[in-house]
Amino acid sequence: MIVTTKELFKHAYGKYAIGAYNINNLEQCVGLFDGNMKSKAPFIIQLSKGARSYTNKVFLEAIIRAADEIYPDAIFAVHLDHGDEQTCYDCIDSGFYSSVMIDASSKPFEENVEITKRVVERAHAKGIVVEAELGQLGGVEEHVVVSESEAKLTNPADAKRFVEATGCDSLACAIGTSHGAFKFTGTQGLHFEVLTEIQKLLPGFPLVMHGSSSVPQDEVARINAAGGKLNGAKGVDADQFLPAAKLGVTKINIDTDGRLVWCRVHREHFLNKPEDFDLRKPGKVFMAEYADFIAAKNVKLGSAGQLDDVRAMLKK
Ligand code: G3H
Ligand code: 13P
Ligand code: ZN
Repeated sequence: MIVTTKELFKHAYGKYAIGAYNINNLEQCVGLFDGNMKSKAPFIIQLSKGARSYTNKVFLEAIIRAADEIYPDAIFAVHLDHGDEQTCYDCIDSGFYSSVMIDASSKPFEENVEITKRVVERAHAKGIVVEAELGQLGGVEEHVVVSESEAKLTNPADAKRFVEATGCDSLACAIGTSHGAFKFTGTQGLHFEVLTEIQKLLPGFPLVMHGSSSVPQDEVARINAAGGKLNGAKGVDADQFLPAAKLGVTKINIDTDGRLVWCRVHREHFLNKPEDFDLRKPGKVFMAEYADFIAAKNVKLGSAGQLDDVRAMLKK
């Protein structure tokens, strides 16, 4: 069942975070649904602009519609990740997405407000909810590369002004994470003091943490041992998810970790079986391993085991 992120956040706020997982293809979709069903978790499927053009957005949306039918017990939101204004309108008009993210965080404050306001107006008219972003994460996403020194943490007072001015439903805050597999060149540091301040100024308002992959070191070591070159890759400590959730983080975005599972499975498969060329063999292993990965991640997020309670809330 497709629901809005707003409904999921209402249940999670202050207690746990909903996992927001990016998908690009069928195998990721199957692993994602299996993992969430196995751990009885509500979840968010995210489609980026890149994912929507990798094959074709119609394919991706059809895969998700099929999954909704195949997994009748699943409760999830369908969300556009890091949308520009035009892509947001495309998703809003499609009638399929339950939420969109407008990411105008690279623009000056006032311009970000104006763009976000326009998207909120069009989305809310159709019952679709909007995530916006203020501050700048480091790392690489689609066409934007932001170095660690250019990344800007969210200013709490600006966050309050921004939310009030735009009417957005949730806010992605920069608190020290970055996109990709190479986070924290120095020591790891999530800025909980920034979150604490934002929550004080915006009590009850759902916050979003991007760039939250953990980049497990055993995964990186296996990839490197199988011919990869990911030296120095580092991520967010998953034990920080629940403390962040207590401070109002209700959505935690994870993409890179799933790509690492894919990379490790396929590298090891073809290294160990150089005579093999059947895509279904590593594909099958990947779907099972991705499902296990999702289920374990949901335990860290606190979303595991919440599904029946969310269903009961939705029936009220
Ligand atoms: O934040 C970016 C996400 O990891 C999506 O990545 O734009 O390469 O699909 P992508
Ligand atoms: P990671 O690169 O840490 O997985 O972050 C994903 C993300 O923020 C998607 O919007
Ligand atoms: Zn992101």
